[in-house]
Amino acid sequence: MKAIIPAAGLGTRFLPIAKAVPKEMLPLGDRPVIHYVVAEAATAGFDEILVIVSRGKESIIEYFSPNPELEHLLEAAGKSAALEAVRAVPRMARIEYAYQETMRGLGDAVRLGRAFIGDDPVFSVLLGDTVMRHASPLGAMAAAWESLRKPSVCLEPCPEDRVSRYGVAGGREIGPGVFELDRLVEKPAADAAPRLISRDGSPLAFHAFAARYLFTPAIFDCLDATRAGLGGEIQLTDAMERLRQADGMLGVTWTGKRLDIGSPAGLVEAARELADPQ
Ligand code: UTP
Repeated sequence: MKAIIPAAGLGTRFLPIAKAVPKEMLPLGDRPVIHYVVAEAATAGFDEILVIVSRGKESIIEYFSPNPELEHLLEAAGKSAALEAVRAVPRMARIEYAYQETMRGLGDAVRLGRAFIGDDPVFSVLLGDTVMRHASPLGAMAAAWESLRKPSVCLEPCPEDRVSRYGVAGGREIGPGVFELDRLVEKPAADAAPRLISRDGSPLAFHAFAARYLFTPAIFDCLDATRAGLGGEIQLTDAMERLRQADGMLGVTWTGKRLDIGSPAGLVEAARELADPQ
């Protein structure tokens, strides 16, 4: 199966380092953030991957490419563990790249994957700056697709004072942890944000999109029909709302921990979290 990993954003919250090092290439231990994202996709069966990059982010391409010279040096020096670590990276998945010319938002980045996805019935999107700790939600999302044939978005609880930063979902529970969504809103005010309703009819905490999506190729027509919204960007959430209206959309809740390294504080927190063997 195929996946799209958008990693073209300007990363303004990481300036000045993002001038020279893409935020997706910042280290968590001995590997960059995007390594974890590619590994997650491949492990869940999405091992044909399109990474969306932009000018100046070629180190991402270099990282996932074989390096025969380095391999030769390590082999000659008898450094077999290091050699294996180097060889394992390009073997994780088959990766292609597309360039986003102007950073017109996540929706615009995903749109660049149309030709790559082709006629595949379903594909995943993983944000390149977010690591999912513990199990990936992609397994549950793929299972929901198998039984209900609907696209989905991973959801996690969101404190009320943060709903205005994220895409937020409303809907009704139709199975354990699976919701039929009836509203998707990007960065709503807390008093206008939709809510999930549990099977027994009680409202749950606010739930925000958690960096993983499972789409049908119909999302591409929805993206084409979406005009630039907040901040002049093509909002993926607006296109998702169109897709929901046409074909329905599921929300799949997830109990792991999302490590968002979009900001320096998030990176520090992620490094701490991954250093903890729990
Ligand atoms: P963010 O929403 O964190 O945006 O992107 P950003 O522009 O990179 O960061 P700031 O806000 O300027 O600090 C979430 C993911 O989507 C990608 C990013 O690279 C990141 O992995 N993205 C975002 C794109 O590929 N293209 C875009 O136009 C925007």
